[in-house]
Amino acid sequence: MRVLIVGAAGFVGRHLVAECAGHGDDVTGTYLAEATAGAPDDAGLSWLPLDLLDEGSIDRALETARPEGIVHVAGQANVSAAAADPIAAFRVNAEGTVRLLNSAQRHVPGARVLVVTSAEVYGAVPAEELPVTEDRPLAPRTPYGVGKAAADFAAEQAWVVRRQPVIRMRPFNHVGPGQRPGFVVPDFARQIAAIERGVRPAVLEVGNLSARRDFTDVRDIARGYRLALERGRPGAAYNLCSGRSWAIEEIVRELLGQARREIEVRRDPARMRPSEVPEFRGDSTRAHEEFGWEPRIDLARSLAEVLDEWREASASPAAGRTAD
Ligand code: GDD
Repeated sequence: MRVLIVGAAGFVGRHLVAECAGHGDDVTGTYLAEATAGAPDDAGLSWLPLDLLDEGSIDRALETARPEGIVHVAGQANVSAAAADPIAAFRVNAEGTVRLLNSAQRHVPGARVLVVTSAEVYGAVPAEELPVTEDRPLAPRTPYGVGKAAADFAAEQAWVVRRQPVIRMRPFNHVGPGQRPGFVVPDFARQIAAIERGVRPAVLEVGNLSARRDFTDVRDIARGYRLALERGRPGAAYNLCSGRSWAIEEIVRELLGQARREIEVRRDPARMRPSEVPEFRGDSTRAHEEFGWEPRIDLARSLAEVLDEWREASASPAAGRTAD
């Protein structure tokens, strides 16, 4: 399939490029010029600039790539950053999705479009009603969730009103190599790598440890997107999740179990959020039944790989990401 990945230079985008290209798709990636300072230099992949705030750039990318399938993984993925600047997050996540859908309808009306929203669209679900299924009404609790819920509704409408073949994906938390600091696992792994190297005191600073999240490896998530693009039902929404939740405290315990030094844990008030959903836990039966998806990589392995990634970065800070 001729696939356009919007946001291909991001955390999920990179894994999705590998997943689709590895399965024989003809992949074009889009990048945000101001974020990457020019086209990324991956051999064998075509790159086009695209800014979700700029309709002309979306039109040009679609006219050039003429995709049969579009996967939209661009935008603001950071829940705290969206809370700090809700208008910017809403513009890129909600308005940007509407712009992309409209442009796709004009230029490639038959193209299947995968719109990636989030578990955050469900908001706070009472513990006895977990795991959450796709039929649950959306009730977002955070500015990030509000923008993602708007994108989700817009995607559903594109199907209902004009039969544009749009599929909604609602991933729960994902982890794995390439995730930037600002998310919980790289935030912890980066500190641990710096502590092991002796460039930081042996204290791990943490935020809310009682929150519970449903984690899946990013490579499993990428496989889910490819399967949904090929076999998902237009108009449907699909959860991608593991079906169990881990307290962030358990993540800390697992990472410290893998650490090469004794490390003290300390609560950093600056890492606490004013408001957040206490637990996410999803049901991905629909994705399993309709396109055979289930997660394969266990969390301990994902955490070990992220920790190793930060150990390497810490050993050669000039190579890109700094250890602290
Ligand atoms: N980032 C971060 N840093 N989070 C921390 C820390 C810390 O030092 N300490 C504790 N936490 C807690 C947060 O308060 C939150 O409860 C949990 O760890 C996970 O935080 P994040 O990794 O920032 O992810 P998120 O749950 O807010 O959002 C992620 O999942 C969504 C789907 O459920 C993101 O990947 C979103 O893009 C995604 O839509």
